[in-house]
Order: sequence, then structure tokens, then C-alpha cells
Amino acid sequence: MEKDKLLFYNEYEQFYEMAEKSIAFQKFCFDSFGQDFSQDGFSDIEQIDMILPYIPAKEDVHILDVGCGNGKMLGYLQKKTGAFIHGFDYSQKAITNARTQFTQKAEFNVGIIGEIEYPDNFFDMVVSMDTMYFSKDMSAFAGQIKRWLKPDGVLFVGYQEGELVPRTIDENTTQLAKALKNNGMSFEAKNITKQTYDLLKKKRETAIIHKAEFENEGSIQWFDMLMMQTECAEGSYQQFEKEMARYIYVARK
Ligand SMILES: C[S@@+](CC[C@H](N)C(=O)[O-])C[C@H]1O[C@@H](n2cnc3c(N)ncnc32)[C@H](O)[C@@H]1O
Repeated sequence: MEKDKLLFYNEYEQFYEMAEKSIAFQKFCFDSFGQDFSQDGFSDIEQIDMILPYIPAKEDVHILDVGCGNGKMLGYLQKKTGAFIHGFDYSQKAITNARTQFTQKAEFNVGIIGEIEYPDNFFDMVVSMDTMYFSKDMSAFAGQIKRWLKPDGVLFVGYQEGELVPRTIDENTTQLAKALKNNGMSFEAKNITKQTYDLLKKKRETAIIHKAEFENEGSIQWFDMLMMQTECAEGSYQQFEKEMARYIYVARK
């Protein structure tokens, strides 16, 4: 598959180039999300800390992050747990950066969701924050992840409806819920739509605080992108909730 034909490929190459250089964006991430993981989405530190209890407290634990970007979220999880971290992303820029920053007990690959392969029964945990939607066939990809997980392994997913996939009724009707059920995987899901609305408002306020720094750096287009991304939280929560939903899924084989 030619990467530049994939959704947002060129945009993400530019995004990770900016994320590496822009001090304004690094400050924006820290102030909005509680940590700078170069987030392009909704993963604040509260959501990432929800992963920690599922990482087994033992030697030789392996975690995979699907669409890991520049690896900063994995770096945080490694710092907290000592786990061996694995990540893949289609962005060459992001993976080059990850490989430079994280060199101990770490493996980063350039790879495409649905195409890259890992050994069966290998991972204690697979994390996918806002990346399941990039698979051409979510059910087939969930099946792949199921194979990669150890028998007691856990899949942790941050999943947003209303942008790349349409809003459905609830956590049991999403494309992801269907994909998990198709593969016989059990799951629990937590609805965090209200927290996400609040986070988007905070992102908007924080971006405005840092606007002059974006301007001075010559990276005002990324400020504009943040304004566009957070416009959906300008109205009431009741309106937002009609169009958007966010869930955290914890699934098992
Ligand atoms: C919405 S961002 C989420 C990034 C990060 N997980 C986070 O929570 O901030 C989507 C990520 O998936 C990567 N990505 C998008 N489509 C992909 C694909 N088809 N194969 C591999 N990676 C992809 C992007 O480069 C980007 O890092």
C-alpha cells in the first residue's frame, strides 16, 4: 500500500515535524492534557493513567501502542511500570523521533494498521488511543490484535464517535463493539463524553492563551487547526452529546 494514499498521511508527517519543534505546541499539550505526549486528540493524563492498573506487575511485560506517534505516551507508561514498549505508526517522522528518544527496552516500527504483523500470544497489553478508525476493516484488525495478545492480555481503546465514525446509540452499538463481538472478545466500556466536552473546552482556552507563542514561532496554522478541532464544544453539552461520544473500552480475548 502506498502510504501517501492513506487518510491524513501527509498531514501526520507535518504534524509530527511540528510537534518535535514547536515549543508553543509542547506547552499547549502539557497545559491541556496534563502531560505532553504530542496528542492529536483526546488522550489526557486521566485516560492514560487508566491504563496503568491493567499492566501486570511482573518482569518481562510487553505493551504495544497502535499509532504510537513519537512514542511519548509509551515512554510515560515505561517510566511508570518498567515494561518493554513496542509501537508502530505509518509516520516515518514520528518513528524516527521515537527511536531517538526511547532506546531502552523499546522497539518502534514504521507500519500500517491492518498490514503490520507481530507474533501471536506476545503482548500483555495493546493500547489504541484514537487509532482503531484508521483500519480498513476494524473487525479484521481486532482479530489480529486478539491473536497478538497473551491469553490473559488486555486491549485498551480510546474511541471517539462523531468525527471519523458516526455517532451510534451507545457503547454497545459502535463499530468497535461490533468488531470485538465478531471476534468473541468480551469488553467493558466507560462513557467519558462529558469529560471530553470539558477537555475540548480546556484545549480551546489553552490554545488561545498560547496564541502569541504560535504566532511568534511562525506556526499559527497549528493554532488555527486547534480552533477548528475544538469548535464542536462551543455549543451546549446537550448539543455536543447528540453528535459526539467518547468511550474507553477494556477488552479481553
Ligand atoms: C488521532 S492520532 C492519535 C495519536 C495518539 N495515539 C494519541 O492518542 O494522541 C492517530 C495516529 O495514528 C497514526 N495513523 C493514522 N493512520 C494510520 C495507519 N493507517 N497506519 C498506521 N498509523 C496510522 C497517525 O500517524 C497518528 O499518530
